[in-house]
Amino acid sequence: MQGKTVVITGATSGIGQVAAEQLAGMGARLVLVARDRARGDAALARLRARAPGAAHRVHHADLSRVAETRRVAAEIAAAEARVDVLINNAGALFGTRRVTPDGLELTFATNHMAYFLLTHGLRERLLAGTSARVVNTSSDAHRRGRLDFDDLQSTRDYRGLVAYRRTKLCNILYTRELARRWAGTGVTANSLHPGFVATRFGDESGGLLSYGVRLAKMFAISAAKGARTLVYLASSPEVATISGGYFYQCHLATPTRAAQDDAAARRLWSETEKLAGI
Ligand SMILES: NC(=O)c1ccc[n+]([C@@H]2O[C@H](COP(=O)([O-])OP(=O)(O)OC[C@H]3O[C@@H](n4cnc5c(N)ncnc54)[C@H](OP(=O)(O)O)[C@@H]3O)[C@@H](O)[C@H]2O)c1
Repeated sequence: MQGKTVVITGATSGIGQVAAEQLAGMGARLVLVARDRARGDAALARLRARAPGAAHRVHHADLSRVAETRRVAAEIAAAEARVDVLINNAGALFGTRRVTPDGLELTFATNHMAYFLLTHGLRERLLAGTSARVVNTSSDAHRRGRLDFDDLQSTRDYRGLVAYRRTKLCNILYTRELARRWAGTGVTANSLHPGFVATRFGDESGGLLSYGVRLAKMFAISAAKGARTLVYLASSPEVATISGGYFYQCHLATPTRAAQDDAAARRLWSETEKLAGI
């Protein structure tokens, strides 16, 4: 990873934090996107301690906001001549339905729209080299996910887990469509399931959901194990030419039929473009 620039979201905690530190240890220069200044600065300090020579950087944005995600993508595009790897990883689960100032349901905005907007905003920088990778953190939670194009914002009968599963299904569909559209450009796109990992994930979901997730995490794997597939997809020569895949434990895995529905993937892309005003 010497000489490579890796842009990563959600690296102030959990899987993303471990992956960023490992990639820095392999020689990459990391560009973090963090919403909280103190947590972003702390993550940057850890990277600098790990790999002092590289000019790691942090940019700040709340990725649930369309304008902030666009702004941070433009900031990074202005600062970086080339992006070799983009890791869309920031994600969350919310026990009660919340709506962003853009009118989007918060899980959908954070877990899906941000992946789309950041990738779109960094398109030219990803295409600037001979090859680049987009890595999208999804989840096996997609297996019980259902996409309802009439209610993408979960206005009816909101349930936190249902909304979360839907966004993780969106991550796989989005990755497939991105791989299809960018085929032949030298940019690959793959998604992954990190495993069930003991991170801060779900701690702030609220109510019973937080409690349930905390209990379940007693049986979860470490963030170091959870980060393996992320690091693998970002760095391994074995996957340099694979695109559109869904990975688990550093191997190609088969997502559900709903996650392989290319018509749904195309429709999701165009609905997302409309919501993003593109
Ligand atoms: N943990 C699991 O078992 C599991 C399983 C499957 C998939 N995943 C996926 O793995 C990814 C990483 O989760 P994790 O387990 O590492 O959880 P985590 O420890 O809670 O980390 C989530 C990261 O996302 C950031 N983030 C959340 N909302 C954001 C926003 N609006 N703007 C900017 N950054 C935001 C957080 O920033 P702060 O530090 O500011 O909170 C944090 O860095 C997520 O996409 C999740 O869906 C996790």
